[in-house]
Amino acid sequence: FTLLMCMSASEDFDWTKNHRTSFYFGTFPTGFSWGAGSSAYQTEGAWNTDGKGMSIWDVFSHRKGNILSNETGDFSCESYHKVKDDIGLMRELKLNHYRFSISWPRILPRGTISEHVNEKGIQFYNDLINKLLDNKITPMVTLYHWDLPQVLQEKYGGWQNVSMVDYFNDFASLCFERFGDRVKHWMTFNNPWSVAVEGYETGEHAPGLKLKGTGAYRAAHHLIKAHAKVWHTYDTKWKSKQKGLVGISLTADWGEPVDTSNQGDIRAAERYFQFYLGWFAGPLFHGDYPQVMKEYIGRKSGQQGLGASRLPVFSAQEKTYIRGACDFLGLGHFTTRYITQKNYPSGLGDSYFADRDLAELVDPKWPDPGSEWLYSVPWGFRRFLNYVKSEYGNPMIYVTENGVPEKKYCTDLCDAWRMQYYKDYINEMLKAVRDGVNVKGYTAWSLLDSFEWDEGYSQRFGLFFVDFSNKNKPRYPKASVQFYKRIISSNGFPN
Ligand code: NOJ
Repeated sequence: FTLLMCMSASEDFDWTKNHRTSFYFGTFPTGFSWGAGSSAYQTEGAWNTDGKGMSIWDVFSHRKGNILSNETGDFSCESYHKVKDDIGLMRELKLNHYRFSISWPRILPRGTISEHVNEKGIQFYNDLINKLLDNKITPMVTLYHWDLPQVLQEKYGGWQNVSMVDYFNDFASLCFERFGDRVKHWMTFNNPWSVAVEGYETGEHAPGLKLKGTGAYRAAHHLIKAHAKVWHTYDTKWKSKQKGLVGISLTADWGEPVDTSNQGDIRAAERYFQFYLGWFAGPLFHGDYPQVMKEYIGRKSGQQGLGASRLPVFSAQEKTYIRGACDFLGLGHFTTRYITQKNYPSGLGDSYFADRDLAELVDPKWPDPGSEWLYSVPWGFRRFLNYVKSEYGNPMIYVTENGVPEKKYCTDLCDAWRMQYYKDYINEMLKAVRDGVNVKGYTAWSLLDSFEWDEGYSQRFGLFFVDFSNKNKPRYPKASVQFYKRIISSNGFPN
């Protein structure tokens, strides 16, 4: 009944007007995997339980003024104590996979493997993985969803320091050793762009550093090297036995040129893409940073001052080592921006950092699902997927995040706009699959309402509503649960 009510409510919005092509009826290829996602710090709670160490997010969120309303992830959804319940929710949806992350300080409280392995943390993830498999749900595991052990930040400066490459490799190796007999889908990093830019450049995220000019590039350089090292470790030590895949999850919006016949706008949109997704995908698929990044901020640019010489350089040996070190590409995608030469100027290629607001042009006619930053622009998703296909030689893709928050409390659980968003975005993904993009699975973000980083609990992305005011953190299905479930059970939109 709620579903019907919500469906008729959604018919009030004439959102189809904004679509560039009409709805496509059809199904996804057999074996397409449907999932939902979460991350450790955003959902687990239990921040100091059973020997867990502190992460940079524990410290950052405990410091007043960093998070909206000074909220923290200390308790969050208490998923640490509710594995059975949450798997019940996944069963309700009939998910094929569940994407979650492993908290590094939960299993290595001192950051390094030589100091202390917390068996209780290992036990927690073993239990989660086993229960998922008992219920025929494939675990898809992210090794790093932003919660670096605080001790590594304090001792070495976190991702500013190249020593993180080996520490991360040790942590990943431990995960392969302990969980790899059952986990076959690994992602090293979640959204390294955000780690680098928001952690070390704008300071909006932990560790909250504002190392203007070089901090993000340096962090990114080490993240890319760490990813490659972990991929090689798996490839040489574990792959023949465990037969899994190691990928990475990158996130990017689509940048559409305002005037598609204006070369300046087209080039600006290309820069936007390359400074966002290409920054990481370029090295992994082509062996180096994108040409346009090198031109604007690389050593050979000939530019003086702030714009020059900020992009680190890979040696010839490193390029060979990094290129191809990726079995699949995870993609998080939420929205689209319009790009013009003016809002994404040529002077400094990375002005996105400095003039971020300027770069975020949107069309007021796009449906605003009630979030400050996220407009529903489904056709951008299809373009994005097709562009990734052509840029990187049609890699295997898993959509690792896609979804929409709500700003206001959805107390009647009637999230009509979310159903509309999922319907439209999934339909555009279907068109992309028909275009030949090699998408193997889709992961709704997110299973539960959870801690949305610097926004605290104000942005609810969940398919399930969580009552954070109740210490038991009860979950309630929003109407989109039934809706998504229907898409899953029919593998798309059969005629
Ligand atoms: C990207 C991040 O990976 C995830 O943690 C976050 O909740 C969503 N985007 C929504 O902002």
